[in-house]
Amino acid sequence: MDTARTPKEELGRRIEALGPWFHNLRIGGVETAPDHFLGDYPAFKWQGFRHVLPEDLTGKTVLDVGCNAGFYALEMKRRGAARVVGVDSDPRYLAQARFAAEQSGLEIEFRQMSVYEVPKLQERFDLVIFMGVLYHLRHPLLALDLLWEHAVGDMMLFQCLQRGDERIPELSENYDFAEWSVFDQPDYPKLFFVEERYASDPTNWFIPNTAAMEAMLRSSGFEIAAHPEREVYLLKRGARHYAVENAPCGFGG
Ligand SMILES: C[S@@+](CC[C@H](N)C(=O)[O-])C[C@H]1O[C@@H](n2cnc3c(N)ncnc32)[C@H](O)[C@@H]1O
Repeated sequence: MDTARTPKEELGRRIEALGPWFHNLRIGGVETAPDHFLGDYPAFKWQGFRHVLPEDLTGKTVLDVGCNAGFYALEMKRRGAARVVGVDSDPRYLAQARFAAEQSGLEIEFRQMSVYEVPKLQERFDLVIFMGVLYHLRHPLLALDLLWEHAVGDMMLFQCLQRGDERIPELSENYDFAEWSVFDQPDYPKLFFVEERYASDPTNWFIPNTAAMEAMLRSSGFEIAAHPEREVYLLKRGARHYAVENAPCGFGG
């Protein structure tokens, strides 16, 4: 990052005052989270899927939902995106993101906003980044539906914590009411609900297995364009096919 503006000692003090950081950024040679429990996060993760996004984003608009300290928003601006907006529900992370962007001399708009409020932006973006947020939500399908409906113009880069079976089962479109055994298949789409904590984090609510993750994305109208890593997907906005209105209640067809 270009940080000629602030002397290193002062930078260190300001970075510490803005902490604790979840993103390990390098600001003027100072690392913001050098002891991160996942390592050099998210820089090392980024190496595994950066190739699925265009190197040149000239003229494109990007929305980073749950941007945290702005690692991905900064990377998109470095790739030449015309407009990058980062939103997060936590003002402490947004203060970090604003500081990192200012120190890098990159123009990014940051707003405090929940994913459920994206309709307020009244804008569809060429690329939406929605990484590491879904399992923190009490209403994950609502978030995916709102992003499809109001924010995603073309593509979405997506990641969600997954646990359980990693296989994709062959399933019928429909099962008889008397069929129970299919639900006991380990690879049947499953969404684990965490009432208290997982990884000591009380904001982890729903953790899908792989089949559930992909089914939820499809159900919300996203097509899988690339799957560069176990939990990372590049999605294309496709057609939504679930039935909302006039759905039969009970045993009708
Ligand atoms: C695990 S971090 C992921 C950060 C970043 N997207 C990444 O992949 O490195 C989850 C982020 O989502 C934010 N977040 C949690 N709930 C949110 C919500 N309802 N709307 C927007 N952001 C949310 C948190 O404040 C946090 O910055």
